[in-house]
Amino acid sequence: MLSVIDPLDAHQRELWGHQTVKLRHHLAEMDLFSDDSLAKLIETAAPKSLAMHTEGGTDPSTWPSVARGTVPGAGVLEAVRDGKLWINLVGISEWDPRFAELADKIFAEFAAQVPGLDVVKRKLGVLISSPKATVHYHIDIPGQAIWQVRGRKRFIIYPATEPFLRPAELEEAVRSATYGVATYQPWYDEHAEPHDLAPGDALHWALNGPHRIENFDELSVSLTSEHWTPDIRRTYAMNYGNGLLRHYGWTPRSRAVTGPAFWAKVALTAAYRKSGLQNKKGYQRVATFTVDPDAHNGVRPLPPSQWAPPGA
Ligand SMILES: [Fe+2]
Repeated sequence: MLSVIDPLDAHQRELWGHQTVKLRHHLAEMDLFSDDSLAKLIETAAPKSLAMHTEGGTDPSTWPSVARGTVPGAGVLEAVRDGKLWINLVGISEWDPRFAELADKIFAEFAAQVPGLDVVKRKLGVLISSPKATVHYHIDIPGQAIWQVRGRKRFIIYPATEPFLRPAELEEAVRSATYGVATYQPWYDEHAEPHDLAPGDALHWALNGPHRIENFDELSVSLTSEHWTPDIRRTYAMNYGNGLLRHYGWTPRSRAVTGPAFWAKVALTAAYRKSGLQNKKGYQRVATFTVDPDAHNGVRPLPPSQWAPPGA
């Protein structure tokens, strides 16, 4: 297999992990992302690895979850093409060996080019989404990149600092397993970097940088990658500890990831997790819609008696 990523230039190697870096890749030349391949993946994904949503309401954390029901993969793709659906093949590198190999290859290529990069954990996902679909302003916890494979989208990135990134919201996203919804104001756009992504473009941005997405009027297929380094783990531990302090009434004053205050937070987090006070249940989707290629938006509501976690 040829290289996945075109070589980074000297500036990109220094910027990687700190600022937005736009790269070129060759994933669109692989048949992993053809309609046939995607239809098979949709059919073989375990229900927990097939996250499907449709748009509804202003709070994206409550957008309806959609079950596949008995619709074959090709029918699901048809519903995405004509409707209003977001599909995430979650953690695909953990259940499809071809994507596991792809993850190895991508991160080996990064490691060979970015000085000092030490990725200790990584994962890939595949996003398949409808023409004109949107993703609201949100934050992700690990290091992230998006790799556009089919269709075009506008990817809008905001600075990973206040007021765009509010520590209390980041801490909340870290402590819960929910989608990291963050407060958005339209004037933030004056400070944003919009990037139009076409097949072959990839973006990696600063850790926890808020972003939102607007698809062009065409079906979009993207690969997403997430990764952890020792530094990202320390930032996570600091945010977790600060979130606990805030939860118990203190306003955290330090975002340091070294020194005694940091290690006290690591100890606090460990004690809290051991105590059983943590909500281990996490976030569970309950499908209230099902795929229907013939229905408006490609989905139809399920009667409440049939609401259930997908696959239940
Ligand atoms: Fe994201």
